Amino acid sequence: MTAKIHRVRKAAKKRAFIDKEIYEDWYSQSIKNPEKFWRKHGKRIDWFKPYTKVKNTSFSGKVSIKWFEDGVTNVSYNCIDRHLKKRGNQVAIIWEGDNPYDDKKITYNELYEQVCRLANVLKANGVKKGDRVTIYMPMIVEAAYAMLACTRIGAIHSIVFGGFSPDALAGRIVDCDSNVIITADEGIRGGRVVPLKENTDEAIEIAKKQGVEVDTVLVVRRTGAEIGWSDDRDIWYHKAIQAAKPDCPPARMKAEDPLFILYTSGSTGKPKGVLHTTGGYLVYASMTHEYVFDYHEGDIYWCTADVGWVTGHSYIVYGPLANGATTLMFEGVPNYPDAGRFWDIVDKHQVNIFYTAPTAIRALMGAGNEFVLRSSRKSLRTLGSVGEPINPEAWDWYYDVVGGRKCPIVDTWWQTETGGIMITPLPGATDLKAGSATLPFFGIQPQLVDGDGNVLETATNGNLCIVDSWPGQMRTVYGDHERFVQTYFSSYKGKYFTGDGCRRDEDGYFWITGRVDDVINVSGHRMGTAEVESALVAHEKVSEAAVVGYPHDIKGQGIYCYVTLMAGDKESEKLRKELITHVRHEIGPIASPDKIQFAPGLPKTRSGKIMRRILRKIAEDDFGSLGDTSTLAEPAVVDDLIKNRQNRH
Ligand code: PRX
Repeated sequence: MTAKIHRVRKAAKKRAFIDKEIYEDWYSQSIKNPEKFWRKHGKRIDWFKPYTKVKNTSFSGKVSIKWFEDGVTNVSYNCIDRHLKKRGNQVAIIWEGDNPYDDKKITYNELYEQVCRLANVLKANGVKKGDRVTIYMPMIVEAAYAMLACTRIGAIHSIVFGGFSPDALAGRIVDCDSNVIITADEGIRGGRVVPLKENTDEAIEIAKKQGVEVDTVLVVRRTGAEIGWSDDRDIWYHKAIQAAKPDCPPARMKAEDPLFILYTSGSTGKPKGVLHTTGGYLVYASMTHEYVFDYHEGDIYWCTADVGWVTGHSYIVYGPLANGATTLMFEGVPNYPDAGRFWDIVDKHQVNIFYTAPTAIRALMGAGNEFVLRSSRKSLRTLGSVGEPINPEAWDWYYDVVGGRKCPIVDTWWQTETGGIMITPLPGATDLKAGSATLPFFGIQPQLVDGDGNVLETATNGNLCIVDSWPGQMRTVYGDHERFVQTYFSSYKGKYFTGDGCRRDEDGYFWITGRVDDVINVSGHRMGTAEVESALVAHEKVSEAAVVGYPHDIKGQGIYCYVTLMAGDKESEKLRKELITHVRHEIGPIASPDKIQFAPGLPKTRSGKIMRRILRKIAEDDFGSLGDTSTLAEPAVVDDLIKNRQNRH
């Protein structure tokens, strides 16, 4: 099947910074001579001391990645101070509340003052360069202030998504030994409150038992709810800010000084602390933001992600603010008060660039076109998609109905680890095919390999690797460099392995097919099946669990759990519900199992390895093609699993 091609529209080509010729020229320069290419583009940010060295990277042996290493800069300086002269009174952040009548605008001057005050509060509470500050917040402007205040004084932030449970929060606090938390009394999303401070208090107790003491908690008053309070530890944010000075000099940071840690799930073990550093990350986030979205001076830009995910880091805060943009932060959800909310906001704030996830597009598509068509959406120019493969039906709807066939869709493939967008169309340069992330960004060399590591040159399917470094790449797993090397560089020697499968077509376009490891992608949220399994087996009635993903109409993938109970425990609807609640409690609502199948036994090889391939097929209701089951220790187990499967088409 050949996909329909949407040619670059004349208007986009005329306006864009990058057309096809420039793309090809720059791309080839970036690959032929990365040193020269990045020497030039590294200058897009301001340096207190310019770099002389550009690229010093190796994907072999111990793996070492350094960019612009002798340069000195500061991220908050680049995102705020350098804009003040020209655009001090320009809006930096438009905040749109969960309640449609609630919004505010923060200028660059105000952003400067707020960030400086908070940086001084952190300093006064003993936070120093290199200290880890945990941010567990709703989508309010203070979340952005908190990030920037950390970068101002050289503290490393670790944001934990507000949908994670106290246990998950505690795990992250302990892993990076963080003694300071910035949170809010409660969050509010879709009219429902999230008890952030209560969760924080619980997490602090759990962390304490594991030897990590949190001594300072800054609390933003968001809803005014009654909350627990500990006088010697908790501080009201608004009071502390008032008392603090409105100026704070930016710390001089080396390019390779850590900027932030962000935990993400892998195929095994606990979530990993992905570490990004200062200079290269900011160069890459700002450059991709400008060219991928074709961002121009004065544009209103909106990315609907949460700052708890990497998309929020790079494309709500750091990329846009480094470019002096107006970035919109939305506290709520796409379907509250109704399924027209996104488009109402687009009209209200005259949004030009809109970036969201396929799961939201699919959900809104299901709600009906009238919610879209009641808005004008005239301001829209570029649409973006991120987080999971976008199915062609959703792509077409986004293009036809939301964009009225005039807005290019940039389907951006990237990962927490990559720091910024890697494979993507550019609005004025790339012909589009629905469902394809199309072509690599400057400096990115994707390669497909087979299971043995042989390089595949033709149009075919393979495992997606990247053969050389780019400035936004993660540098290590916090506190565990060996795990970094093992996870990303041991499958295929000398290459970064993404964990994704991918097809390249006859035009050289890339089509991401999804994870090839035991990671699933639920509504664009990445989850290790091993994490859900260990949450399940932590329940007293569960003896064994295996978790796989299955195709889900809205979420992309759903969570399917096979659970074997302890001898003597009986399966029941009540227990099923109890297990779902248990997983939500252990990890958070985003990990809620969609299906639980009680299984007397799991299919294992004679050496005791669970055959997930079979479990995936049964979860997909595709058991006609189970493949070779002759190596199973007990083939009869499979018949029972098929008989009691939870998905039937
Ligand atoms: O499987 C790919 C999928 O999301 C994974 C990365 O997840 P995370 O680190 O949470 O970052 C998400 C936001 C950058 C990838 O390994 N993925 C991300 N974007 C796309 C995608 N799959 C297909 N198409 C995309 N555009």
